[in-house]
Amino acid sequence: MQRVEAQIKRLIDECNYDEVTRLFSILKGGKRLRAKLILKIAPEHKDAPLLAAIVELIHAASLLHDDVIDDAMTRRGEASVNATDGSKTAVMLGDILYSKAFTELVAFDKEVAQTIAASVTALSKGEMMDVKMAQSFNGDEKRYLDMLYLKTATLIEAAAKASALLSGKNAKKHALYGRNLGLSFQIIDDILDITADEKILGKPAMNDYVEGKCTLPYIYLYKALDETDKAKLLDLHAKKPTPEELHWMQTKMKEHKTVEKSFKLAQKLSDEAKAAMSEDEDLVNILDTMIKRSY
Ligand code: FPP
Ligand code: MG
Repeated sequence: MQRVEAQIKRLIDECNYDEVTRLFSILKGGKRLRAKLILKIAPEHKDAPLLAAIVELIHAASLLHDDVIDDAMTRRGEASVNATDGSKTAVMLGDILYSKAFTELVAFDKEVAQTIAASVTALSKGEMMDVKMAQSFNGDEKRYLDMLYLKTATLIEAAAKASALLSGKNAKKHALYGRNLGLSFQIIDDILDITADEKILGKPAMNDYVEGKCTLPYIYLYKALDETDKAKLLDLHAKKPTPEELHWMQTKMKEHKTVEKSFKLAQKLSDEAKAAMSEDEDLVNILDTMIKRSY
């Protein structure tokens, strides 16, 4: 990973603007999941650290823009760039990171470059759908999963596929692995919003629904409720619930096992990925660790 961090530093230095260096230095790197995946799939390839750095810059850019879109004041436990330096700066820092990443990407093999580039279009479409879908209640599971795939799984899928292409491995299998890893990762994230301790999350429990996000446990709950309770759940959408209302939703979710149902889907997707990648112990371990962080 040191080689990836060195590449990231080089790309930032090459932007040749001290404001960019300053702002980027206060951004927290996060788990670098995508970079780790690329290094695991193409460990020997000389350009793998650069590809990993490119994908991390794209990811960082997408989060800068997302925090502006979501009006989020914190990111990874720290104040967001839009909170400290304003939305205009956050958008432009995102643009700089994103375009610098693409400047480097064009030097790669055409199929590798196209794989990553196309995923950014998908990512942006997913974000647009997410914004639209939060405006009213959505009880359609497929619509939700389609959005989730575009918004969070496509870049992971592209990272896995592109690194497989680099190292001459099976691109299709690795793409499936990345797609399912991304999807189950996000489903677990949605579950944690409901089950995890507020102190661990750094935000109030069940905040997704307050923000209008109808994640799987809510979609399954809606399907299971009778007409009166359906209306009650719809009424609570995108509002701050009272402690009684919060308790009601939690009780109903327990009664109808909607978190368990969501977890089962995450597990199914993870098992599919494992089956595609059974010969690669490290990639299987990544999935296991991810599934275990759930409730
Ligand atoms: C986080 O979602 C957001 C994303 C994973 C993708 C955002 C994508 C864009 C803004 C498209 C623009 C892309 C580029 C490269 C400029 P979330 O709000 O559900 O998660 P959070 O809790 O981490 O904020
Ligand atoms: Mg957000």
